[in-house]
Amino acid sequence: MSLAERALDMQAFFDRKADGYDDVHRSFMGTKTSLTDALPDGTHRILDLGGGTGLELFPLFERFPDAQVTVIDVSEKMLDLLMKRPFANHVQPVFGDFFEVGFGTDYDAVISTSALHHFEPDDKRILWRKVYDCLRPGGLFLNADKISKNRTAEADAFAFYRENKDSGEYPHIDTPLAPSTEVQLLEDTGFHHITVTLTDRDNYRLFRGVK
Ligand SMILES: C[S@@+](CC[C@H](N)C(=O)[O-])C[C@H]1O[C@@H](n2cnc3c(N)ncnc32)[C@H](O)[C@@H]1O
Repeated sequence: MSLAERALDMQAFFDRKADGYDDVHRSFMGTKTSLTDALPDGTHRILDLGGGTGLELFPLFERFPDAQVTVIDVSEKMLDLLMKRPFANHVQPVFGDFFEVGFGTDYDAVISTSALHHFEPDDKRILWRKVYDCLRPGGLFLNADKISKNRTAEADAFAFYRENKDSGEYPHIDTPLAPSTEVQLLEDTGFHHITVTLTDRDNYRLFRGVK
């Protein structure tokens, strides 16, 4: 499945799930709040990749009420719900696939949660380059996302995906990377002061890199 097909798949899946999304994902608020907790004082211009209905933006706007947040998402229905939030006048929604739309420039931080565990390492390399380029010097990349425990589990996830993606049995198959792969990709892109932090979920980590 090509990247474009996978994005269409995501769009269809999240358009379908949008209405019940918050009920399921409220239990992930710990990982979402970890993004806000890791941002430095004074953060103002933020890009959120795959912001969906904007759950992670509740703690964010509590701490940074004047922030300006651009949210890129391929699901119009998720973005529609986001734009009904009380903080919507501080949000610029961008409808489209991460690999297709422009990211803008000069962000203090790029954040993402639960949205980037569907890409091959080589595709992620392209994405991390876009993230790096859109940050101001010293800007922060924070990604709280699902992981595979190690590289064997990562290879197993991709094998399962390849075997089953066309079966119609699974509407959505995750292919998270191992922490060591994520760190390698961040290093290769040029990020420094990279850290990997545990979250309140066993299979989630908060990855941080500085431009
Ligand atoms: C699990 S939701 C996470 C939403 C939100 N960040 C949260 O934590 O509640 C993943 C989001 O990423 C979006 N997404 C997935 N693949 C994408 C892509 N290739 N381009 C843009 N958005 C994408 C989906 O539409 C969905 O809204």
